[in-house]
This record gives sequence, C-alpha cells and structure tokens, in this order.
Amino acid sequence: MRTISGFAETGPGTLPRVNDFKPGLEGVVAFETEIAEPDRDGNSLRYRGVDIEELVGHYPYENVWGLVVDESFEPGMPEPESFRPATLSGNAPSDLQAAFAQLSSEWKLRKLVDIQPQEARDDLARLSGMTMSVVAQSARVADGKTEPVPDDFIAQGTTAAEKFLLRWRGEADPRHVTAIDTYWICTAEHGLNASTFTARIVASTGADCGAAMSAAVGALSGPLHGGAPARVIPMLDAAEEMGDPERYVRDLLDRGERLMGFGHRIYRGEDPRARLLKPAALELGSPRYEVADALEQAALAELHRRKPDRPLPTNVEFWSAVVLDVAEIPPELAPAMFGCARVAGWSAHILEERTTGRLIRPSARYVGPSSRPAGSVL
Ligand code: ACO
Repeated sequence: MRTISGFAETGPGTLPRVNDFKPGLEGVVAFETEIAEPDRDGNSLRYRGVDIEELVGHYPYENVWGLVVDESFEPGMPEPESFRPATLSGNAPSDLQAAFAQLSSEWKLRKLVDIQPQEARDDLARLSGMTMSVVAQSARVADGKTEPVPDDFIAQGTTAAEKFLLRWRGEADPRHVTAIDTYWICTAEHGLNASTFTARIVASTGADCGAAMSAAVGALSGPLHGGAPARVIPMLDAAEEMGDPERYVRDLLDRGERLMGFGHRIYRGEDPRARLLKPAALELGSPRYEVADALEQAALAELHRRKPDRPLPTNVEFWSAVVLDVAEIPPELAPAMFGCARVAGWSAHILEERTTGRLIRPSARYVGPSSRPAGSVL
C-alpha cells in the first residue's frame, strides 16, 4: 500500500485518519500527475517529459499548449473566436474571470460530469484561445482606447503572442513578441499551485470548464500568487537610484524585508525558468539587464552570507519581471500575463482531474467552542 503524506497508513476498508496538520498543505501530496515535473535536484522543468530548454525559441506558445494539454504539439491552442466581453473594466484579471463565466453560458458549456474527454478538451481549447483575446481587449481599455482592433488586421499576425499584441496595441514589435512568447512558455505549467489546485477542485465537482477556469483566475489575482513580478521592478528602480546594489540589499535585509524574486519552495539550486529568462533579457536588449544583474549578484552573495545553510536562489519572478518589461508590460498587467500562460496548465489539470472522478473534500480539525446552549451566545 502506498503512503500519502499527511495520512496514516490504514488497512483495507478503513477510512484514512488525519494524523498531521500542515498549514497551507505544504508538502502534502494531493494528486499524482503526468503533466509537469519540476525537478528539484536536477534544477530543471519538463512538460510531459520535455525540458523547457528545448521549447523556448523552437515552438511558439500555442504549440507548447498542445504539448502540455494533448501531449502533442499539433493542433495546439486554437485561434480565439470573435468575442467582445460584456464587462471590460481594464482590470484584466477581473475581466477575464467574468469573461470565462460569460462564455460558459453563451457557449452553453456542459458539465464535466456529463461529457466525454474530447468535449472537455475542446471546451478548454476554446476557452484558452479566448484568454489572450480578453486580456488584450482589457489592456486596450486600460490604455483608454475604446475602439477594438479589427479582426482581419489581427489575423495578419502569425503567433498567439503577436496576435495578442496586435489586438492590444494595434502593432507588434518583434522583440516584444519574443519576450512574451518566452515568458508564456516558461510559465505555462508548474505542477500544483494555488490556481491549479483551485481549477482541479472546481473540476472535481463536475462543474463546466468555464467555471473551473474562472475560479482559477480568481486564485491567480492574489498578489502572493500572480503578482510578484510587479514588485521586482520598483526594487530595481530603487537599487539603481541608490547606485550601490550591495548597500541596497543590506539595507533591505536589515529592515527585515524579503528580496522579491529570491528563494523557492521547490528548487534549492537554480530555478530553471530564471536560467532561461536571464539570457533572454540580455538578448532582447533589456535596458534593465545591467542593474538586474548587479542586484542579483549582490543579493545572492548577501543571502548566502546571512543564510549559508539555506540556498535562496533567484526564482522565476525576478527575470520574468525584466523580460516582461522588455515588452513594455505594465506591472499591473503581470498577473493577467501569468494567466495567459497558465491556461495550458489549468486545462491539462482539469482534464487530468476529470479522469479521477473523485470529489476533492479534505478535512478540517474543529478547534472552536465546545458544545454550549444557544442562550450562552450574546
Ligand atoms: N529574501 C530574504 N530572506 C529570505 C527570502 C528572500 N527572498 N526568502 C527566504 N528568506 C529567508 C526567510 O526570512 C527565512 O529566514 P528565517 O529562517 O530566519 O525566518 C528563511 O529564508 C526561509 O524562508 P521561508 O519563507 O521558510 O522559505 P520558503 O522556501 O518556504 O519560501 C518563498 C519560499 C515564499 C518564495 C520565499 O523565498 C520568499 O518569500 N521569496 C520572496 C518572494 C518571491 O520571490 N516570491 C515569488 C516566488 S516564485 C513563485 O512562487 C512562482
């Protein structure tokens, strides 16, 4: 019998007994997955067994979506359908969340519990394709432009990243296209995290795919999950202004603050996504590369000096921020950009969850008041 962390080994026919409370479920194995393998010891990340180093620059994001979801580059993520969301506030995560809910009812998506895998896959493909369209339309509204870019103009783009920029800005600088494509591929999937877990929980109830994707966006909108790149750029600006990255790092740590973009729950060595994004930032001619590199060196040295036994490597968020900055993505759009990338992972996990057919229903240990009469409550 296999042992699952957090549950006592039990005999056949008995219920598992909760023997260990882990705040935040850290270290608790909730699923087995065949989708992505963050390799802690090898400091690499593989989608369906393929190292992301073999993907960036070789396949566009839409084909990587195919690898993650279908285990095949072709046909990949489809083109978005013509659609103007009912709500376009310019707040991209909330516009996306609302659009998924709207599409659920407009497309009459059926409940996962009532459909075959192919229909679920096709629903997720349609919703994924719409993600970039909705985020681009929302970003355009945030820029104060109310007229949408015509579909036939956007159709001139060749990749999902290029079409995203055309729909948003009406133009697509090739450097910006490469920056976004690289970022989307590096962050397409990373095992179980808050938004993916949310998507799987909703899928486990048998709800439709739009409901699962909408809920995932809600989880992503929190700054602790999708918002870290937004906090890196101000740090780089402050370090540059001071002109002394070593002192900047020391002062920040002396104040008891954390350096954004360093440390990781899984990787103790290099985060493989940071390893890919850093040279991308250099090749793309990032104006912030020099200050970011200097800050990274200062941070790694000082963190090592203060915590020699605790590796705190550069994580994905640090160089993501620099690469997204190349594409002139405003920091407040970073969570939605992460959502565009992560639709691949969410879709694959929703499909995988569907195959288990098991409602996710963990337990809580009751620690409230003991039994008492209603009259004792004021
Ligand atoms: N800067 C300074 N000190 C740090 C940092 C950091 N970035 N990260 C960890 N530490 C220190 C902590 O203060 C703690 O010290 P203590 O033992 O004296 O209290 C020790 O290292 C361990 O910290 P934990 O929070 O327990 O480490 P964990 O591995 O659980 O946390 C995390 C990982 C949350 C990413 C953390 O490193 C952090 O807060 N980093 C900064 C924020 C960040 O970059 N977030 C994006 C993460 S990437 C991602 O989620 C996709």
